Amino acid sequence: MTNRLGHTLQQRIPVLAGVFACPFPSKFSVACAIDFAPQLSRTLKNRTGGRRAPRRLVLGIGAALWGQFMGMAGNSGSKSFLASARQKGAVEQVLKNVEWPEQFPFKEEDFQRFDESPDTSFYESPRFVTHIDDPAIAALTKYYSEVFPSSNTPGVAVLDMCSSWVSHVPAGYKQDRIVGMGLNEEELKRNPVLTNYVVQDLNINPKLPFEDNSFDVITNVVSVDYLTKPLDVFKEMRRILKPGGLVIMSFSNRCFWTKAISVWTSTGDADHAMIVGSYFHYAGGFEPPQAVDISPNPGRSDPMYIVYSRKLATA
Ligand SMILES: C[S@@+](CC[C@H](N)C(=O)[O-])C[C@H]1O[C@@H](n2cnc3c(N)ncnc32)[C@H](O)[C@@H]1O
Repeated sequence: MTNRLGHTLQQRIPVLAGVFACPFPSKFSVACAIDFAPQLSRTLKNRTGGRRAPRRLVLGIGAALWGQFMGMAGNSGSKSFLASARQKGAVEQVLKNVEWPEQFPFKEEDFQRFDESPDTSFYESPRFVTHIDDPAIAALTKYYSEVFPSSNTPGVAVLDMCSSWVSHVPAGYKQDRIVGMGLNEEELKRNPVLTNYVVQDLNINPKLPFEDNSFDVITNVVSVDYLTKPLDVFKEMRRILKPGGLVIMSFSNRCFWTKAISVWTSTGDADHAMIVGSYFHYAGGFEPPQAVDISPNPGRSDPMYIVYSRKLATA
């Protein structure tokens, strides 16, 4: 299949529960890529003196322009973005020493979805399924066990955004306050780790119904790609986090593609890390975001990536 910019994308096979591997061949434009390319080109020329440019500078350039960009920067240009994104380490490198453009490089159309019907309708019926495979879940749980505050720490509060009937925390993990936010009440009710929950459509109302400086950790598992007002949500996350509070956004290469934003469905894994990183950067008040590849068995089970950051002590 070919998208508007002529880049050939591979159609993948639908997998469990109606979730499709991304990037899905998109009928959407990658308008941000087109607009951002000249600016990026100038930045690169200034920074590299025409030598090969690091992969990290491809924000907004999209799959279609990747080869062109790499050629311009002195590489062969023949390597496709999707292939390079699958290389071990590509995702982890992409957020290192980024020179962010002054303005948020995405446009309104980058946040459109194929299915613009209310999200509440899409999530009306509960789905008691998991959206990534067991090894990917195990990798995420292990990661949480390494970075979460210890279980049962007095005063610690955790928010699981875009939550469901599972939160993937380590077995027996407890805090006085673990709040889930999502769209399906039956799923949230059945989540055993939540101490309470809120049903709220973040694409209609991105204001988080919590006090300033009240959470230590915010998680969002395989759902950041459904947010159509990500900067509003990330600014709200910053507001409700305690100084130094941790945000862990995790994602794989699957999604309900009709509900994911177009800039996500038209790009690959390394771009996704850059997109999420840009949300932290442009929301402001966060440490430079970092990406970690925790994929358990590359090529054999679902990949799993983390983009994380902490609220600045001064924010
Ligand atoms: C793919 S599921 C992931 C659920 C869960 N995080 C997990 O790991 O299994 C997507 C989740 O995002 C939530 N979601 C999607 N669109 C949303 C929106 N507009 N506002 C709030 N939550 C949303 C849904 O409630 C759903 O639970």
